[in-house]
Amino acid sequence: MRVLGLETSCDETAAAIYDGDLGLRAHVLHSQAAMHAEYGGVVPELAARDHVGRIHALVTAALAQAGLRTDQLDGIAYTAGPGLIGALLVGGAFAAGLSAALRAPLIAVHHLEGHLLAPMLEPRRPEFPFVALLVSGGHTMLARVDGVGRYEILGETLDDAAGEAFDKTAKALGLPYPGGPELAKLAENGRSGIYKFSRPMTDRPGLEFSFSGLKTAVLTALPTAQDAQAKADLARGFEEAVTDTLAIKCERALDATGLRCLVVAGGVGANKRLRARLAAATEKRGAELYFPRPEFCTDNAAMIAYAGWARISAGETASGLPTRARWPLQELRAPGALPTTAPEPPC
Ligand code: KG4
Ligand code: ZN
Repeated sequence: MRVLGLETSCDETAAAIYDGDLGLRAHVLHSQAAMHAEYGGVVPELAARDHVGRIHALVTAALAQAGLRTDQLDGIAYTAGPGLIGALLVGGAFAAGLSAALRAPLIAVHHLEGHLLAPMLEPRRPEFPFVALLVSGGHTMLARVDGVGRYEILGETLDDAAGEAFDKTAKALGLPYPGGPELAKLAENGRSGIYKFSRPMTDRPGLEFSFSGLKTAVLTALPTAQDAQAKADLARGFEEAVTDTLAIKCERALDATGLRCLVVAGGVGANKRLRARLAAATEKRGAELYFPRPEFCTDNAAMIAYAGWARISAGETASGLPTRARWPLQELRAPGALPTTAPEPPC
């Protein structure tokens, strides 16, 4: 079974094809980061218009990469939410049109489910159940994953997402958009221990996160960072505080669930310091650690194609939900399960 996946929830237009026998056959992506850079963040209307101009060519390129025709596709999966509504509608409409023309099942994929299942694209794959740390620009959460569509949220951020904190701190340091990877690069030249920030919410029990105070602490310290070295030291102090906090909560989640497998997903999962910190923490306690490769940590269509394939394989026939800007993960159902709540109207 071959499933085409489309991702247009934010500022990446992407298409991929996952084959149940042969694995990932194609994945192509266009990032709009350069277009949004001059505005210092994603401009939703520009994002949607750019997706419209690119999606057809990207689907054609994915088919060419896989050496397939459209009539050889067995399902069309698309990111139905959460995300920017105008952007989501582009992928949703394209997927719906293709599915109708091919009479192939149309599968609505939750963007976070895509991220949570992205490690399944790697040769070394985790087995259910596992603890997942999902750290992206819009979300920071710990979840227990028992299977496709079976997610229990263990803790979430009360304010900023980790990626959002990276991006806002990077902006304050004068770094270009998107800030997370730029801040990580700057921190490589920074010295440890020059700037020390507290690890938010680690002094009390629980698996919740909060990053807005840390961002404010960095802003307060900013006037003392005058030269390039001091800015790098500040970036290092911030990065260590975020990655340490995330790692402490991951260890707690492993203890609380009794599980011995940790999966990290989402854009911040590409951060090298986080990866090293979690590798040390899991090794110490004899737990297994799984990451998608960095290009599958950030937004991509391979994870959407895989999630669509997994849902069809588990018996989902067609889930053509309306596109949803807001879609709490708790409302997601296992493949084939009947809705428990009425879906929201499209916008
Ligand atoms: O998963 P993603 O591509 O998009 C969302 O669904 O949000 O995550 C993007 C986030 C951005 O905040 C970006 O700055 C952050 O991931 N990010 C990083 C790194 N690479 C991407 N943050 C820290 N270090 C990185 N190397
Ligand atoms: Zn994402």
